[in-house]
Amino acid sequence: MSYRITINPSDHVFNAKTGETVLQAALREGFPLPYGCRNGACGTCKGKIIQGKVDFGRYNEDMLTEAEKEAGIALFCCALPLSELVIECREIGAIKDIKVRKMPCRVQKMERVASDVMIISLKLPTNERLQFLAGQYINILMKDGKKRSFSLANAPHDDELLQLHVRNYLGGMFAEHTFSSMKEKDILRFEGPLGTFFLRENSNKPIIFIASGTGFAPVKSILEHAFHVAETRGNDRHMVLYWGVRIKADLYLANLAGSWQQEHDNFSFIPVLSETLPTDAWQGRTGLVHQSVLQDFDSLSGYQVYACGSPVMVGAARKDFINLRNLPEDEFFSDAFTASLSSPNL
Ligand code: FES
Repeated sequence: MSYRITINPSDHVFNAKTGETVLQAALREGFPLPYGCRNGACGTCKGKIIQGKVDFGRYNEDMLTEAEKEAGIALFCCALPLSELVIECREIGAIKDIKVRKMPCRVQKMERVASDVMIISLKLPTNERLQFLAGQYINILMKDGKKRSFSLANAPHDDELLQLHVRNYLGGMFAEHTFSSMKEKDILRFEGPLGTFFLRENSNKPIIFIASGTGFAPVKSILEHAFHVAETRGNDRHMVLYWGVRIKADLYLANLAGSWQQEHDNFSFIPVLSETLPTDAWQGRTGLVHQSVLQDFDSLSGYQVYACGSPVMVGAARKDFINLRNLPEDEFFSDAFTASLSSPNL
């Protein structure tokens, strides 16, 4: 059994399956309604039932009064549809709609996936979730007042743990701490979500993703979001990922990217190595990653490009794609990693 739900004023329509809350169904179908805790404890997801009936579910009574219920107000993270519904609420349409928060978190898991890359999974306090757009980043707040920025590598629908890909490099204070003394269960503080590197879903243009090193992290988030939304809304937007690294061992989630290619007809994965070791027996693409894109496309005039990684790669891609391949300037989206406070992943 499923119930059709119409959102006012956008007229967007989605379907809730048996046992799904209004919010779960909306997020599953890619309609970002506002939320905080997803547990009836914060009131962020409050909206109005204009037509139809719901079971209001279990929630903290301070967050929803009897008078509000009588007026048709519900917490959408708890409300279970009992009929077709028309609801009234705002949808998150842009980053300005998402509140930047400062929160503590606990290091839940640390996985060393390459000699210089650690994947860390962060758990938020009970009853807390972080709303963000796929591709955005957070700032880890260090004890000395400094900040270190990291892209979120998990997709927004898969938000039980926040995933960061941390690359070790000389002089990277947080990175060095991660590799030398951080332990599971450590407590960190962060602020976020931040950044404008997120999927523009109002376009049907095919997409080229180009990542270097741990620039893979936000691209993973965006792709997993796009695959998830396509499961319910359908999507034949063609997407190709060029992932440039130095040697084969740096392709720390190559199997995952390869499995996306097998599962999704509209996605291809092209790894590119800048150095080949004899022991790698590499038969694939070599050279600078943005040069591989130039080799494969005579024109980018009908494409969107999302580039994330070193400033040198992002700068070269931007210049050459626009000047040599007619990519429209406003179809190039990027996040360049630098040691400054405002760019992720160092
Ligand atoms: S998201 Fe916090 S009450 Fe619904």
